[in-house]
Amino acid sequence: MEHQQTINSGGVAEADEKLMKVQSAITQFRMIKGALIPVLHEVQDIYGYLPEHVLHLVSAELNLPMSEIYGVASFYHFFSLTPKGENVVHVCLGTACYIKGAQAVLDRLSTELNVSVEGTTEDNKFTLEATRCLGACGLAPVMTIGEKVHGRLVPGNIPKILNEYK
Ligand code: FES
Repeated sequence: MEHQQTINSGGVAEADEKLMKVQSAITQFRMIKGALIPVLHEVQDIYGYLPEHVLHLVSAELNLPMSEIYGVASFYHFFSLTPKGENVVHVCLGTACYIKGAQAVLDRLSTELNVSVEGTTEDNKFTLEATRCLGACGLAPVMTIGEKVHGRLVPGNIPKILNEYK
């Protein structure tokens, strides 16, 4: 199987443990209507994204075609089909933030990290994403890195903030 081609023996145990967690989520939710979304949430919590080989397992276990699973996974923006970096940077491009210069902040992040929006740095440390209102408009322009909110940003702040995560 795809996931076993690239992992060493330590990784196999970890991979098996993750698959067991997926299996237990499937068992937990399979009887409820709309089991797919909670199962995909669990998969994303376990792996940080939705790996293809796991989606094949979900497809077989829930008896759903892959096309339906991909349809749901791509419809909801909180699901990701690609691995993300250790720190996900969400830059708000909602109205309040945009008016206060969020685009310049996003551009500076893109330059500093050398990635475009939706991209992940080569060292896998950061994924850069743009998002809608984060509900902290009073601090505009705002970004989050992981759970932490950074507000009243100016592009010049960005290198120092990123350094905290390197
Ligand atoms: S518009 Fe950015 S936090 Fe609301």
